[in-house]
Amino acid sequence: MPGIEDFAGKVAVVTGGASGIGYALAQRFLEEGMSVAIADVEQSALDSAVASLSAKGRVIGVPTDVRDIEAVENLARTALEQLGRVDVVCNNAGVETGGSFLSISESAWRWVMDVNFFGVLNGCRVFLPLLEANGGGHIVNTASVAAFNSGTATMTPYCASKFAVLGMSECLEVELRTAGSNVGVSLLAPGPVKTRMVDAERNRPQDVAQANEEGRVKVMERLAAVTAQSGLEPAVVADQVLEAIRNNTFFVLPHPDMATAGIQRRMDWMATGTPPPVRQAGS
Ligand SMILES: NC(=O)c1ccc[n+]([C@@H]2O[C@H](COP(=O)([O-])OP(=O)(O)OC[C@H]3O[C@@H](n4cnc5c(N)ncnc54)[C@H](O)[C@@H]3O)[C@@H](O)[C@H]2O)c1
Repeated sequence: MPGIEDFAGKVAVVTGGASGIGYALAQRFLEEGMSVAIADVEQSALDSAVASLSAKGRVIGVPTDVRDIEAVENLARTALEQLGRVDVVCNNAGVETGGSFLSISESAWRWVMDVNFFGVLNGCRVFLPLLEANGGGHIVNTASVAAFNSGTATMTPYCASKFAVLGMSECLEVELRTAGSNVGVSLLAPGPVKTRMVDAERNRPQDVAQANEEGRVKVMERLAAVTAQSGLEPAVVADQVLEAIRNNTFFVLPHPDMATAGIQRRMDWMATGTPPPVRQAGS
C-alpha cells in the first residue's frame, strides 16, 4: 500500500502534543495543510500549544490521559465531531522514571508501562477501526532507541516499555500488511532529542515517589547534558516522520547508529554468552 501522498485537508491526532516531538509533529502537519487534534495530560502546556499553533491552521486541544481508554475514546469522538475525520494518529505521549532495580516501586513501573505501552496500545485499539472505516490512514507509534538497547543504567522500566511498543508495533504492521489493510504503521525510535523528556517527572502521579537516588540523578544530569549538546531538534524528527507516512515506511530511525549498535550488542551477547557492560543513557 502506498503512503499518504497529499496531506492537505486531512486530519492528524497527536498524543503528548503539548511539548517536544509531539508539538513538532503537530506543527509539521499544520504546515502541510492538515487539521490537528493535540492531546495531552498537562492542561497549561496544552492551552499554550493550541494558542501558539493556531496561527498555522486549525488545531484543537483535547485534555487526555492516554492511560485511560475512555479518555482516548473521547479524544477520537472529539476529533471526529470537530475536525470531521481522522487520517493520521501519532501515539507519542511518553514518560520516564527509574533507578536501581529494587528501588523502583510498583507504582513507578505501572506509570511508565501505562503511559508508554498501554497509552500507545489504547491509541491503536481505538483509532484503527476508525482509520479502516475512513478508507485508510497511518499510525505512528513512538518508541525510542531504548527499544533496541538493554542495560541502560537506571532506565529499566523505560527500556521495558519501549521494547513492548516495538514488539506490539512490529506485530501490528506485519498483520495489517499481510491482510492488505489500508492502514500503515510506523515506529519512531529516536535517540536524544531536545525536548522536556528529562523532566518527565513533572507529570508524575502523586503515588509515584520521585526517583532521586544519587546514581539516578547523575544519569539524568548526564542525559540532559548530552541532549543539550548533541540532541536533534524535534522539527528534524517531525520531518522524518512525515516522510515515513508519505512512503509508508515502518522504521523511523533518527539515530540509526544507536539503534543498530543496540541490536549488534545483543547479537554478540547471544553468540558469545557474555553480556555487555551497563550503558549510559545517550551513548
Ligand atoms: N526526547 C528524547 O530524547 C526522546 C528519545 C527517544 C524517545 N522519546 C519519546 O518521544 C516521546 C515524546 O517525548 P518528548 O521527548 O517530546 O518529551 P516531552 O516531555 O517534551 O513531551 C511528552 C509529552 O507527553 C505528555 N504526557 C505525559 N504523560 C501523558 C499522559 N498520561 N497522557 C497524555 N500525555 C502525556 C507530556 O505532558 C508532554 O507534553 C515519548 O514517547 C518519549 O519516550 C524521546
